[in-house]
Amino acid sequence: MKAVFGFSILLALTGCTTSNTSNRVESLLNQMTLREKIGQMNQYSVGPELTGPEGAQNDRYSQFENGEVGSAINLIGHKDIRKLQELVVEKSRLGIPLVFAHDVIHGYKTIFPIPLAESCSWDLQAIEKSARIAAKEAAADGQNWTFAPMVDISRDPRWGRVMEGAGEDPYWGSLVAAARVRGFQGEDLSDPLTLASCAKHFAGYGFAESGKDYNSALIGRNDLRNFVLPPFKSANNANTATFMNSFNDIDGVPATGNKWLVNDVLRKEWMFDGVLVSDWNSVGELVNHGVVKDRAEASALALKAGTDMDMEGANFIDNLEGLVLNGSLPESLIDDAVRRILHLKQNLGLLDDPYRYLDSKREQEIVMHSQHLEASLDMARKSIVLLKNENALLPLKDVSSVAVIGPLAKDKDAPIGSWRAQGKSNSAVSFHEGLVNKLGNKVQIAYAEGCKLSIGPNNFLNKLKIEQEDRSGFPGALAVAKKSDVVFMVLGEPAFMSGEARSRSDIGLPGLQLELLQEVYKVNENIVLVLMNGRPLCIPWEEGNIPAILETWHLGSRAGDAIADVIVGDYNPSGKLTMSFPRSEGQIPIYYNYRNTGRPENDNDLVFYQHHMDVDRTPLFPFGHGLSYTTFDYSNLAVRTMDNELEITVDVANTGERQGEEVVMLYVRDKVASVSRPVLELKGVRKILVDPGGQKTVKFALTKEDLSFYNVLEEFVFEPGAFEISVGTSSTDLLTETVQFN
Ligand code: BGC
Repeated sequence: MKAVFGFSILLALTGCTTSNTSNRVESLLNQMTLREKIGQMNQYSVGPELTGPEGAQNDRYSQFENGEVGSAINLIGHKDIRKLQELVVEKSRLGIPLVFAHDVIHGYKTIFPIPLAESCSWDLQAIEKSARIAAKEAAADGQNWTFAPMVDISRDPRWGRVMEGAGEDPYWGSLVAAARVRGFQGEDLSDPLTLASCAKHFAGYGFAESGKDYNSALIGRNDLRNFVLPPFKSANNANTATFMNSFNDIDGVPATGNKWLVNDVLRKEWMFDGVLVSDWNSVGELVNHGVVKDRAEASALALKAGTDMDMEGANFIDNLEGLVLNGSLPESLIDDAVRRILHLKQNLGLLDDPYRYLDSKREQEIVMHSQHLEASLDMARKSIVLLKNENALLPLKDVSSVAVIGPLAKDKDAPIGSWRAQGKSNSAVSFHEGLVNKLGNKVQIAYAEGCKLSIGPNNFLNKLKIEQEDRSGFPGALAVAKKSDVVFMVLGEPAFMSGEARSRSDIGLPGLQLELLQEVYKVNENIVLVLMNGRPLCIPWEEGNIPAILETWHLGSRAGDAIADVIVGDYNPSGKLTMSFPRSEGQIPIYYNYRNTGRPENDNDLVFYQHHMDVDRTPLFPFGHGLSYTTFDYSNLAVRTMDNELEITVDVANTGERQGEEVVMLYVRDKVASVSRPVLELKGVRKILVDPGGQKTVKFALTKEDLSFYNVLEEFVFEPGAFEISVGTSSTDLLTETVQFN
């Protein structure tokens, strides 16, 4: 009884309507003890045991009961969520509901392609829809808040978390960030089918030195402003409800204690008034960073640097009360944080009805809906990138027998990818299943695994062991390859070889896979290499020898169906890379928007320019690269200078034999500026559908704001002068005009 009472008291005392959010929050704040306030700033990861009978013995159980926890993460399913919510609402003095969070990164139960793959679709509507569906399913299962989108720009494919982002480019990263925020949050946060989103990790996490997760980042202010921060700013402009700190330090200052980054940039300059949550114990880790001596100092620093909620570390709940009571911290800082947290709860509709997200009928109707699986298939097709297609080996034609070889060919788990939320292990349509469904009896399909890839547990927590010795499957693979017209080699990374804490120094095909490929190549060169991986790979031998390469990433629930559609030509691939593929790891960081330097390329034989003497300067596959089954021709680039903008037009003709979608890219180069600007910067994208023999005129406009950048004084400025304007099919295949723009 007390529960309901607790909650109705709250309503009676505040006497608020939903339109009166601030009054309601203020009135609540006024009733709270200091400990209850700090409780709101405390977030725990909990499992179902907490909601069972044994949970009552757990220390955390009593903290929930006492109103000393404001948010729970990782509790799954509306039944358990309801139990915990009831405990808090009914037992705690003020009955303030919890907000439930989970990492919903690329789908909840219906799994979509990993975000890096989705970004290669260059289709913002589809990306938004994918996030919307993920939010619907998660919210229908009781969640209120996702820790996504990850908007970290990265130029380093050794970093395993590139799978969660949108690649290396700040312009595209910004558009994707906003699309995903819109997708998760919808029009109204209190809609029980939306989630609050969280732009993470603020900031610089994707620049971890040597691609090693959690490592320090060295980023100058200019690069931070021009390359790293724009997607965060864009997420803020799209009204993301929350932000998350990052684990790393930038130049010695840990992000979780960086007052400039959070207080000055995020709060004052961008006027972000939502909740900033720490990353997993990133408050406590300030001690390891060596910038504070203990968890009390860590809590004080994080709070002063704008962190509102402490994820999992119990740093705030253990320390802040004492610090306020002994006068080291003003209570007003706590009040500000709690105000923001209560506003989030209010905006989610939880203060009106703590159980509004908990409806079993809704869950049954929505989760894994057939339309969601269709949308996942659609997104998967769009995310595939055709990297190479010599002699038009794809789509398949006049083939009577194919061999399907490789440890990932029948793997139903790899396509589910890392950060799979509640996606079931081994639940994707495998490559083999997709191909068999598609080809039926028309073509003979022989299969051999060839070699194992991982041995032992393949999950989020454990270290992955890769098979390095056992070649006993090779002869069987060679036998099926010999007797087939075309060989599909399905190779790459298992699901948990990318994602958090999955940095690699060698990003070639892991284990025995390259050796297997080379052996098969000796008996049949007619190979389509189907890659499944969570990051750009370093595959120079493959690129030099294998006639066709299809990058399929980790494509989600319907992976095999999507790949089969592309293989037979039912879908004409249109994806393009959002991250460069290196020729060798020594080239990393490698990215298209580099600066010219004082010693750019040199056509003569002298060596005194910036290059590696043992590898070509270019990437193996550049940013924007991706083939189609048709061809496009660009002509008539025209740039007109209007008063306040440049108008750009170009004709794009489909010169092949089938209808195709083309991603038309607009780049600029600011020739002379107060700081050296990149040799190319993406500034516009259009995806068009052109019939064979047809042509479309594509139009772009660039304003002075589009051409502005942060100067050394950190002012966003337009500097008049000459600009190269380029339009084309990738960052290395462009038509260029130079204009004066004042
Ligand atoms: C990750 C975050 C994630 C959090 C909660 C951390 O280890 O860095 O991205 O949201 O865990 O699962």
